[in-house]
Amino acid sequence: SPAAEPTPTSTSTSTPTLSRREESTALPVAATTRASTAPPLQPNLFSALDPKPAAAFTSPVMPSKITANSGEQAFERPPLPIDQRAAALEVIDQEVIACVRCPVLVQSRTRTVFGEGPVNPRLMFVGEAPGADEDRPGRPFVGRAGQLLNDMIVKGMGIQREDVYIANSNKCRPPENRAPEPAEIAHCRPFLTRQIEILRPEFLCLLGRTAVLSLLETALPMHRLRQRWHRYRGIPTIVTYHPSYLLRNPASKKDAWEDLKLLMEAMGLKPPARREDQAT
Ligand code: URA
Repeated sequence: SPAAEPTPTSTSTSTPTLSRREESTALPVAATTRASTAPPLQPNLFSALDPKPAAAFTSPVMPSKITANSGEQAFERPPLPIDQRAAALEVIDQEVIACVRCPVLVQSRTRTVFGEGPVNPRLMFVGEAPGADEDRPGRPFVGRAGQLLNDMIVKGMGIQREDVYIANSNKCRPPENRAPEPAEIAHCRPFLTRQIEILRPEFLCLLGRTAVLSLLETALPMHRLRQRWHRYRGIPTIVTYHPSYLLRNPASKKDAWEDLKLLMEAMGLKPPARREDQAT
């Protein structure tokens, strides 16, 4: 069942984590600043990357022929040194805690939910907004949707939740679990984009429509956005269904699995051996 307890394995933690070494944080500028006429990224462009075990895959070189697909510019600033990132994130977290830009959300939240994970993640997931389960502890994706996300990460991708960064477009719980409104997404966007600028994940996975609205500036429907590569500020980005949607529409889990496979291929990750009862 999707809501089943995740079963983290203890065997794959002895190796260097998926966090990257500092020298691998920046894509070559030439690969990220092409004009908006560049063709969309195709997954087969990644096929030159040999699948490698996650542990040995610490510094992938993105093929230089990959071009940005929406005129997205790379970050203007070089990556922040890894040892300065926690403090820089803490500054933003404190601003989030003090934020009162959304009058309704200030009332509906009890705590803000900034996000969690390594400060140099290879992969960052971006969800929508905290629900009641996240609002209480102030941690992202710890309720039912979070259990499904854990399964997607651990059972599907064969990596550990602790090795990816998990955040939301919106840091405050909306009332009655409604989606954040466009103004609320816009208010919170600078927190998210600064978070990403500090973290410099090598890959982004956007979970559902709100994350897409926040970062990709497109109103295309989900089915037009998945199964292809996007770029956010040069970062290769995959779009897939939100785990809450998958809980309501289990038939779409097989599609989400196809999206994760694109991500895994680009990251050089092999699916874990046992597949029958996972993510499908
Ligand atoms: N749904 C989200 O989008 N984010 C969470 O943190 C939990 C549920």
